[in-house]
Amino acid sequence: MMKKYKVGIIGATGMVGQRFATLLDGHPWFEVTTLAASARSAGKTYREAVGKRWCMDTPIPESMADLVIMSASDDIEKIAAAVDFVFCAVDMKKDEIRALEEAYAKAECPVISNNSAHRFTPDVPMIIPELNTDHAQIIPAQRKRLGTKRGFIAVKSNCSLQSYVPALYPLHEKFGVKDVLVCTYQAISGAGKTFETWPEMLDNVIPYIGGEEEKSEKEPLKIWGRIEGDQIVPATSPNFTAQCIRVPVSNGHMGAVFVRFEKKPTIEEIKEIWKNFKGYPQQENLPHAPVHFLNYFEEDNLPQTKLQRDLEGGMAVSIGRLREDTQYDYKFVCLSHNTLRGAAGGAVLLAEQLCAQGYLD
Ligand SMILES: NC(=O)c1ccc[n+]([C@@H]2O[C@H](COP(=O)([O-])OP(=O)(O)OC[C@H]3O[C@@H](n4cnc5c(N)ncnc54)[C@H](OP(=O)(O)O)[C@@H]3O)[C@@H](O)[C@H]2O)c1
Repeated sequence: MMKKYKVGIIGATGMVGQRFATLLDGHPWFEVTTLAASARSAGKTYREAVGKRWCMDTPIPESMADLVIMSASDDIEKIAAAVDFVFCAVDMKKDEIRALEEAYAKAECPVISNNSAHRFTPDVPMIIPELNTDHAQIIPAQRKRLGTKRGFIAVKSNCSLQSYVPALYPLHEKFGVKDVLVCTYQAISGAGKTFETWPEMLDNVIPYIGGEEEKSEKEPLKIWGRIEGDQIVPATSPNFTAQCIRVPVSNGHMGAVFVRFEKKPTIEEIKEIWKNFKGYPQQENLPHAPVHFLNYFEEDNLPQTKLQRDLEGGMAVSIGRLREDTQYDYKFVCLSHNTLRGAAGGAVLLAEQLCAQGYLD
């Protein structure tokens, strides 16, 4: 039996923080011993601080409910000394998050982050564990820059792209994905909201999510990037264009994708690749790895957000409606759970990868 790693959640009271708490309750490798949030919550127990904001389907984990919340920015040294690493999901200004995460790393506390602040720092790996596992190899270069032995920052990518990038990734390797047009239909939990806190979303669609289209177009290129020296150099293709739309669903981001290849595969070849695709988490049988990452549905009316978002604990991607297009080669739809695979679950899987590879020792 391996030792259990002591873990902190920075931003524990938020929507993603609550997901972390729920996912990590009873985790075989990780034990949550420390919770932190803003100074407003510090000093209260988790139960008091989160109060009516608790919005998970299961109750607040008993093992954490009575932990006293620390201040994310005032107690850095104390937190860093008490845990082996932290998960971070906070709602602060970008430059404040960048500084906060770097302060934890410099205090020799690895940070696995949900925030976007460091996604384009050239030596910070942005990893989807089934795809660009190898980007973790940049960590020694980052440690050198930070002057740390253990501390580093690793991030996960934006929730919008966690369905279409996994679907396209293994196709690109074989057939060269040239152009991608994607429209995303995104859940309100992606904004940290519920229908109670955002009643305007009932019976409504909002055609704008600040910064989302840029992330959806740019982040895939870093995932397809290569390590050169002490940085990750983003790829220059495929070309992405995206429209991101907020729709009245609680959880689950869907993408409608149009794709053009260098070398056009057949529909059977594409389905075969999706069916057989396995990455590091499946090979190593990581605790949060879905058994099948990419799942194709033959029914014309699937995947549906409500029916498939929880597939394999919300960690799998559901795909459907693959067919020829009149302007591109093919079109299809795909779906992933935005606060599980797209946020806390993706970060937990990333921590499991980094743990299995020895980066958290
Ligand atoms: N929701 C998603 O699906 C999703 C997906 C991917 C990435 N993200 C990213 O994850 C982050 C958190 O999102 P969320 O939806 O969980 O937000 P949220 O529900 O608004 O939670 C924000 C958290 O940040 C804490 N916080 C706010 N100001 C702080 C400060 N000055 N110092 C320390 N902590 C502070 C809050 O603590 P208090 O309770 O004390 O105020 C709370 O714990 C954001 O960067 C977001 O972009 C979200």
